[in-house]
Amino acid sequence: MAPNTVTITDNRTNQSCTLPVENGNIRAMDLRQLKTIPEDFGLMTYDPAFMNTASCRSSITFIDGDRGILRYRGYPIEVLAEHCTFLEVAYLLLFGELPTEKELNNWVHEITYHTMLHESTKKFMEGFGYNSHPMPMLVSTVAALSTLYPGARNIHDAANRLLQIKRLIGKMPTIAAMSYRHTLGLPYVYPDNDLSYTANFMNMLWRMVEPKYVANPVMARALDILFILHADHEQNCSTNAMRSVGSSHADPYLATAAAAAALAGPLHGGANEAVIDMLGEIGSKDNVPNYIKKVKEGHGRLMGFGHRLYKNYDPPARIIKRTAEQVFEVTGRNPKLDIALELERIALEDDYFVKRKLYPNVDFYSGIIYQAMGFKSEMFTVLFAIPRTAGWLAQWQEMLTDPEQKIARPRQIYTGHEIREFVPLEDRGPIAAATH
Ligand SMILES: CC(C)(COP(=O)(O)OP(=O)(O)OC[C@H]1O[C@@H](n2cnc3c(N)ncnc32)[C@H](O)[C@@H]1OP(=O)(O)O)[C@@H](O)C(=O)NCCC(=O)NCCS
Repeated sequence: MAPNTVTITDNRTNQSCTLPVENGNIRAMDLRQLKTIPEDFGLMTYDPAFMNTASCRSSITFIDGDRGILRYRGYPIEVLAEHCTFLEVAYLLLFGELPTEKELNNWVHEITYHTMLHESTKKFMEGFGYNSHPMPMLVSTVAALSTLYPGARNIHDAANRLLQIKRLIGKMPTIAAMSYRHTLGLPYVYPDNDLSYTANFMNMLWRMVEPKYVANPVMARALDILFILHADHEQNCSTNAMRSVGSSHADPYLATAAAAAALAGPLHGGANEAVIDMLGEIGSKDNVPNYIKKVKEGHGRLMGFGHRLYKNYDPPARIIKRTAEQVFEVTGRNPKLDIALELERIALEDDYFVKRKLYPNVDFYSGIIYQAMGFKSEMFTVLFAIPRTAGWLAQWQEMLTDPEQKIARPRQIYTGHEIREFVPLEDRGPIAAATH
């Protein structure tokens, strides 16, 4: 059998070293033995955007982009979306196993009894302008929870960590709904403990003067499925932020706020908003061929198509398409769906998209569903942040309990000046225009 090693020859020195290969990887630190002189720092790798660097070992989520596979703790996402509730999946992500009936009932009870917010939360919410975007409101309010729970800093105590995890998963929909109602100038609605996680969220969003809000069960289940699909996606930008900030031992409210801030960027959580804008710009089914032609000529991209990892039909996208049909039976068909279906049909037959392995991703349909359910597009990223909190916390906990992890601190390649002579203020000339 071939040895599980890699031998590297450093042509600068003609020296060779043999490095062990573990799980198909070498350790970057092993490269440091390659030096030109003994004082040399040693060989490093340069990897902007972590395109080829594993930053951790993780047993939470598995993605095989080429084969279109997404699994949480070994269970295919399709199976979980069909048979589980979001809270059951959150339990699986956090504890590594599916709960028994008793464990699930306890878990649901615990989360339900952590949905209330301290009354002072209303006061900081009041400080935001009515036209504020709900995502920065959510980010700031999650960070502010750190002021209410100073005990959360004790991140090395497992029971304490679990308490904060329950609080965060419980309170996220309440904060999200408050952010939404604040933009409309509507009074906040308190949680209703009789309702499921998503039905309660809908109650806090949409209840007006009726004594009891009754969520449409098809819509509540559709939202639950969307939450399952968004619960984790291994080391993406926001999860990396969660792990990185958490590695400094900041409390979980601050780390979650940092992760949510990363999610707020249009390259991460904001793509489904861009799909809605694109479908609006296309306007009708008849304009689809012309739009595709323009994309192929290099004018813009087909939003909701393509993925850094998936080079096949994205598994959540497959599930979401079915969910869309169920939602439209209740809400009536979102006219944007016909444009989306036509776009998908033409693109999947077109050589340009086939050759580049560009398939619809989860964002292609999620925006259309959210819009049909009555959400404004500013809420789309907030709807992503609620379930992803479970994934962030599972990854945070895994990072904290991994003995190999330390405070995250990448290296750099310094490209600035060598040491320079200081020039006193009165002797400095104007900065050359070229440097502006
Ligand atoms: C998701 C995304 C950023 C992945 O990018 P990536 O893996 O870095 O892929 P690249 O940008 O290198 O693209 C590879 C090729 O496909 C093309 N391509 C990628 N996505 C495309 C799209 N949505 N529409 C048209 N062409 C696209 C690129 O132009 C490039 O073509 P070239 O080889 O002729 O230059 C990219 O597919 C994209 O911008 N999609 C639209 C935005 C979106 O839906 N984002 C949500 C992701 S969940």
